[in-house]
Amino acid sequence: MAQQQWTAVDTYFSDVLIGDDPVLAAALAAADAAGLPQIAVAPNQGKLLHLLALTQGARRVLEVGTLGGYSAIWLARALPADGRLITLEIDPTHAEVAAANLKHAGFAELAEVRLGRAAETLAQLVADGTEPFDFVFIDADKPSNPVYFEWALKLSRPGTVIVVDNVVRGGAVADAGSTDPGVLGVRRLHELLAAEPRVSATSVQTVGVKGYDGFTLIRVGS
Ligand code: SAH
Ligand code: DHB
Ligand code: MG
Repeated sequence: MAQQQWTAVDTYFSDVLIGDDPVLAAALAAADAAGLPQIAVAPNQGKLLHLLALTQGARRVLEVGTLGGYSAIWLARALPADGRLITLEIDPTHAEVAAANLKHAGFAELAEVRLGRAAETLAQLVADGTEPFDFVFIDADKPSNPVYFEWALKLSRPGTVIVVDNVVRGGAVADAGSTDPGVLGVRRLHELLAAEPRVSATSVQTVGVKGYDGFTLIRVGS
């Protein structure tokens, strides 16, 4: 019952505020055709990321966990023509589908899919002295969230906004005794956030087409 209602409401919001989007529909169709899992952000969540990046005036966006490039397209659409989006993906098939989808969406120049373990590609970005990012979206393997946050902080400047997806784990995040690696990753992330004087953060629970979940919003201060 609840899930049916959450889906109906999400569908209503997305229909009325987003509507048909042939480029995004094609990206999802290509991802499905290639057998990618259907775990991209929902349309209204994608638009939330887009609006957050726009509000932020972001010119440089970093994403950890590309899948088929659905969220990456929403984020790339928030960038000026000379902006930059770097998205990190471990799976070669996912990366290939995403690169094709981003190209079809008109972002072949602006967006780059970097193949590899994100812990390594993030370290490489830091080693290369990469310019800080204005907006970061962390949405890859959940046990590594603490690691991704630490690297994202190194790639941030005062004012950078970091969003982390899937922080509720079906409610198990509140279970201090959990041994689930995803739960441990999210709880460790929250401990790091609480102890880190350079950031201010909040986490919000959500319901919708993707079920019961939530995200963390982090602002990097000075
Ligand atoms: N952000 C995407 C969904 C990402 S799903 C969207 O909303 O459209 C999570 C992705 O993270 C998957 O494609 C998975 O292959 C990738 N991933 C998992 N472990 C990873 C790792 N260690 N390094 C980089 N990417 C990883
Ligand atoms: C999964 C991953 C996600 O990023 C998500 O939003 C939903 C589900 C998963 O790995 O199952
Ligand atoms: Mg996710």
